Amino acid sequence: MIIETIKMRHSTRKFLPYGLSSEERERLVDFFEVIPTLHSLRLKWALKDLNKGSSAIYAPCTNKPNCLVEYGFQGEIIVLEVTKMGFGSCWNAGIREAGSPAGIIIGKEDQGKVSINDILTGMGRRKELRALIDGPVPEDERLLQILESCRLAPSSMNRQPWRFSVLEGDLYIWTKANMIGGGHWLDLGIVLSHAYITALEFFKNVSIEKAAGDRYRVIMK
Ligand SMILES: Cc1cc2nc3c(=O)[nH]c(=O)nc-3n(C[C@H](O)[C@H](O)[C@H](O)COP(=O)(O)O)c2cc1C
Repeated sequence: MIIETIKMRHSTRKFLPYGLSSEERERLVDFFEVIPTLHSLRLKWALKDLNKGSSAIYAPCTNKPNCLVEYGFQGEIIVLEVTKMGFGSCWNAGIREAGSPAGIIIGKEDQGKVSINDILTGMGRRKELRALIDGPVPEDERLLQILESCRLAPSSMNRQPWRFSVLEGDLYIWTKANMIGGGHWLDLGIVLSHAYITALEFFKNVSIEKAAGDRYRVIMK
């Protein structure tokens, strides 16, 4: 179940010196070709070695909301794939390679080391679902699992700027934040990817469309 990978993932900020093997590199580059898209925008993901033994993943993207949401959506699907491969990872807003809005650092985690950013961002703690949902919490177990997977999504500075509501079986997701540089759009794409891949485990057909007021509607059949 993808929820297990989602629970396992956390931001890794201390890496061991480690170079990716050619098989790992190939697996990732092949994966870049089959990532699902949100707005049908194909991003050109690239992988680059960093000198500290970790690697960075990034793609060029315009500063427009649609591209940033797409970037968060696809990038987080990569994050979950590298988690499955046994790598630690961390989104990093300071990595602006080739016109990218943020990078994803991956590598072998140096376990047990706490960084200053771990402390500043609350050690990955999350708000309760009750604080994030407009209207009643649904009773349907499948929707509860999907919402839990959304609740655990990473966000810039751990702001968790998203809000949810469930209406006639559809899940609506939007962001309350408005950050300079558009980081909240990345966060929105990230949470949409968690909704999408978790929903696919319970429903045959899952689609996401834009709804009024910059909301996204996740339709599950
Ligand atoms: C778009 C984005 C940008 C981020 N940029 C940074 C960064 O520049 N430096 C950093 O240490 N962490 C960064 N993070 C990681 C968040 O601080 C982290 O995801 C959040 O605190 C939740 O913790 P967790 O990932 O351990 O669950 C970023 C996360 C996102 C989603």
